[in-house]
Amino acid sequence: MSKPAIQRFLTGITTTGTPHLGNYVGAFRPAVEASRRPGTENFYFLADYHALIKCDQPARVQRSTLEIAACWLAVGLDPDQVLFYRQSDIPEIPQLTWLLTCVTGKGLLNRAHAYKAAVDRNNAAGVDVDVEISAGLFMYPVLMAADILMFKAHKIPVGRDQVQHVEMARDIANSFNYLYGELLVPPEAQIDENVALLPGLDGRKMSKSYDNAIPLFATREQLRKQIAGIVTDSRSPGETKEVEGSPLFQVYEAFASPEETQQLRHAYADGISWADAKQTLFERIDREIAPMRERYQSLVGNPVELERILQSGAEKARARATPFMAELRHAVGLRNLSSQAGQPKVDKASRTALPSFKQYRDSDGQFYFKLVDGKGRLLLQSVAFASAREAGQTIARLRQSPAAALVGIGEPGPGVAVTEVASALRMLSDAG
Ligand code: TRP
Repeated sequence: MSKPAIQRFLTGITTTGTPHLGNYVGAFRPAVEASRRPGTENFYFLADYHALIKCDQPARVQRSTLEIAACWLAVGLDPDQVLFYRQSDIPEIPQLTWLLTCVTGKGLLNRAHAYKAAVDRNNAAGVDVDVEISAGLFMYPVLMAADILMFKAHKIPVGRDQVQHVEMARDIANSFNYLYGELLVPPEAQIDENVALLPGLDGRKMSKSYDNAIPLFATREQLRKQIAGIVTDSRSPGETKEVEGSPLFQVYEAFASPEETQQLRHAYADGISWADAKQTLFERIDREIAPMRERYQSLVGNPVELERILQSGAEKARARATPFMAELRHAVGLRNLSSQAGQPKVDKASRTALPSFKQYRDSDGQFYFKLVDGKGRLLLQSVAFASAREAGQTIARLRQSPAAALVGIGEPGPGVAVTEVASALRMLSDAG
């Protein structure tokens, strides 16, 4: 049996803001677990070009890049086992972005959720539709497609809000491949149903945009205070509490083992006080986070070391990106002129055109057909048919079941193998 091909996983995190518990449970923790699977290759990067789309504060972009890089390493990512790099260290990514921009329909981008939401906000506010919408926001899905396609990633673990972007990357890859040959790998989104969606302080999904997030690497004391701020109802100690709809319980569940969760469920039924429940939650989270917090603090305090790790990651990533980009540049015609002498002229029409049937009536009054390939080469010459209808029915039969015996139908063209005829027929039937 042949070895299964390596599956490549790729994910990026935009470098705005400080990582919170929701990012940890939803992204960092599952990604680090996934990075240890055999038979996979894993790409993790800091999406700092993406940060510029929504943040025009240089100091904040820099700080966030430092924090998110430190966070990846603190939670256990091993930079020797994976490709860990900063997007802006890979100049091939913006180069590929341009090639992709030129094969992406503007209409496709008009449909992107993030852009549409911005347009809707303007419409609702009664202002011009374009107000405060940068071309960067509009182009966001193309940049993201370049991130993914540059490294031929198969699977993109994302939240539901990002699925559309991965599908766009797929469409863009297919458009490129149609024009220039099968060079890009169309990716697939992967949504992990087991990954917890963490509620924030107010019970809504934890998100920096709701201002309800608990920073992942606050100090122990800050963590205790933050947890004390999680909303509860007004039931007093001794009263039975509901686990259903309790953000405190849901956060606990995301950190605790099933047995521990079961214990807290009982404690709720037995009327644990909210103060004690919060203390239990605090201790449980702190137990998991404390060792990482130490590593995090030491990494954040050592930007020189972080920069070194990122540079070595960029070197590994560019070892893939540079030769692939050269291939892509050649494919689209950005070529060194001196190396082009004597190359056959191949135009797009002849390379991508499908084989086709040509039906005709010859001077003998009989009916015939030919199968020719995309370049017009004769693949199959039919025998004579008494009527156009018979010839047409034979073609229809060949189209439907390419494997059908060619015997009695005709002769392969000069120098053409029967297998070539069969594969042309298969191509036609695949194309519908
Ligand atoms: N847009 C993603 C987000 O905001 C981040 C991102 C950028 C990304 N490029 C990517 C995620 C490529 C996966 C693959 O969450």
